[in-house]
Amino acid sequence: MNILVTGADRGLGYGMTRILLEMGHHVWAGRYMPEWTELDELKEKHGKKLEIIPLDVSDTESVKRAGDIILRDISYINAGSDDETEAGIGIKESGCLDMIISNAGINGKLSGEVPMESDYDYMMRTYNINSLGAVRLVEIFYQMMKGSDVRRLCFVSSEAGSITQAWRNDNFSYCMSKAALNMYVKLIYNRLHPEGYSFRLYHPGWIRSYMGGKLAEKGNLSIDEAADIAIRYFMDDHVDESELVMYGYDGERFQF
Ligand SMILES: NC(=O)c1ccc[n+]([C@@H]2O[C@H](COP(=O)([O-])OP(=O)(O)OC[C@H]3O[C@@H](n4cnc5c(N)ncnc54)[C@H](OP(=O)(O)O)[C@@H]3O)[C@@H](O)[C@H]2O)c1
Repeated sequence: MNILVTGADRGLGYGMTRILLEMGHHVWAGRYMPEWTELDELKEKHGKKLEIIPLDVSDTESVKRAGDIILRDISYINAGSDDETEAGIGIKESGCLDMIISNAGINGKLSGEVPMESDYDYMMRTYNINSLGAVRLVEIFYQMMKGSDVRRLCFVSSEAGSITQAWRNDNFSYCMSKAALNMYVKLIYNRLHPEGYSFRLYHPGWIRSYMGGKLAEKGNLSIDEAADIAIRYFMDDHVDESELVMYGYDGERFQF
């Protein structure tokens, strides 16, 4: 399959990219941090199966530019050229985008968020990345998925976005941004699921990732463990999609 992953530099996005490549899929990996070199090491190993593309999901122009690159790659293949080297890609199978994994996200607490003294600019930034990032992705890429039999839109959300099960009394920006993401996914599910698009809305667990700015020591899952479980769920063709549910890494079904 041909798959786009956002926030693929490090953390869960990187882990999922690595596994997808090992499974033999073609991946466009969204790069947000040019100074972080883990993706380059993957590129050395997997060559044309991996295309690293600059992608800041908070910037509409950046997402559009990524769209242009992927459209160019897809058009090139669909034009029937034998010379893969010209486009520099290894797409073979469906000739279109099969799956998007909207993973990029930030934790609002990084700003030193103080309850009752919210940093509104940082709250807007969190919302722009965690909520609107997914909207931009779908709006720019869904048409490129029309020819795919799979047409799967995967969203990495969080239990923190469940309004019914909310237990915190702080971390407003992160929780609000994930609740907004969940609402968007519900609306876009209502719109696109009848057209044959497939959906996965997912809480990946507490991961020892880089969300705090450096590799976390605390958390239930390593990046590799979390990525393995997430990819199994995203790749599972037998998930009941008759209603949209946010699934947890351990099988829990979250209320919205
Ligand atoms: N870690 C957890 O326990 C946990 C729990 C529930 C849900 N999640 C969700 O899991 C997803 C992945 O998080 P993670 O734990 O793997 O965190 P991570 O290690 O920080 O990885 C996220 C990646 O996204 C990048 N990113 C930040 N802003 C971006 C933007 N505007 N455009 C594109 N990429 C951007 C990050 O870059 P920087 O490092 O420069 O920010 C980083 O490379 C997020 O959606 C998060 O909300 C995580």
